[in-house]
Amino acid sequence: MADGAVVIVGGTSGLGLDLARHYANSGHPLVVTGRHPERAEAAAAELRATGLAFDLAEPEAIAGYLQGIDRPVDHLVLAAIERDLNSVRDYHIANAVRLATLKLVGYTEVIHCLAPRLHDSSSILLFGGLAKEKPYPGSTTVTSVNGAVETMVRTLALELAPVRVNALHPGIVGDSPTWKDRSAVLEATREKTPTGRLPTMADITSAAAFLLENPAVNGVNLFVDGGWVMM
Ligand SMILES: NC(=O)c1ccc[n+]([C@@H]2O[C@H](COP(=O)([O-])OP(=O)(O)OC[C@H]3O[C@@H](n4cnc5c(N)ncnc54)[C@H](OP(=O)(O)O)[C@@H]3O)[C@@H](O)[C@H]2O)c1
Repeated sequence: MADGAVVIVGGTSGLGLDLARHYANSGHPLVVTGRHPERAEAAAAELRATGLAFDLAEPEAIAGYLQGIDRPVDHLVLAAIERDLNSVRDYHIANAVRLATLKLVGYTEVIHCLAPRLHDSSSILLFGGLAKEKPYPGSTTVTSVNGAVETMVRTLALELAPVRVNALHPGIVGDSPTWKDRSAVLEATREKTPTGRLPTMADITSAAAFLLENPAVNGVNLFVDGGWVMM
């Protein structure tokens, strides 16, 4: 199945885009997705990939957008996020519903739609995050959702066997678009990280490729954080 596709949902920006760049010259046909057609087209043009735009928070419509993926899928990555700073005392239901739907139902619906395209050596990678281990005021939804990603890995790996399913939980990635300009947070986190450095996008891409490609790694939730979670 050397010609199977790599599909990266949330591949127009940040960690998903960095991973897409890694696979751009791999020989695998590449599909990247985001919310906005113009951003998906721009990323696709750079990567010589196919770009798709759909909203994971509207899961009933996802199947229609994925119909065009009619070849085997070797690697499926779910990296999308729409961040929600939301505390229980000042609670915005709509934002919480979007994030919970996107990561839990949206991710699962993408896997459901592409399941017929998976083969015995396919792999799936979900992105979670360490807000599940290190909550902060306002992380109510993201902490819960990342915790759910950890548990989804186990049921998906059982249901889809022999397809492998793993999750990657990055620490704060210092050069990612989300964090790179927030120097106070970066420095405070770096000081508490045993390695004395923050994870980079290249570190995350390297770990993601390992989880996707190593044929014995299955049902794993991998922290890539320089040991920050221990502190
Ligand atoms: N960056 C970090 O330090 C860090 C730390 C811990 C965990 N993570 C996890 O790593 C993953 C990637 O994070 P990131 O910071 O690289 O993200 P990012 O730069 O914000 O990119 C998010 C991606 O998701 C897409 N997206 C957002 N909302 C969507 C929706 N409703 N439907 C479909 N696609 C949607 C975006 O598409 P468009 O914007 O093009 O529409 C974009 O491709 C996330 O799952 C996040 O939880 C990241």
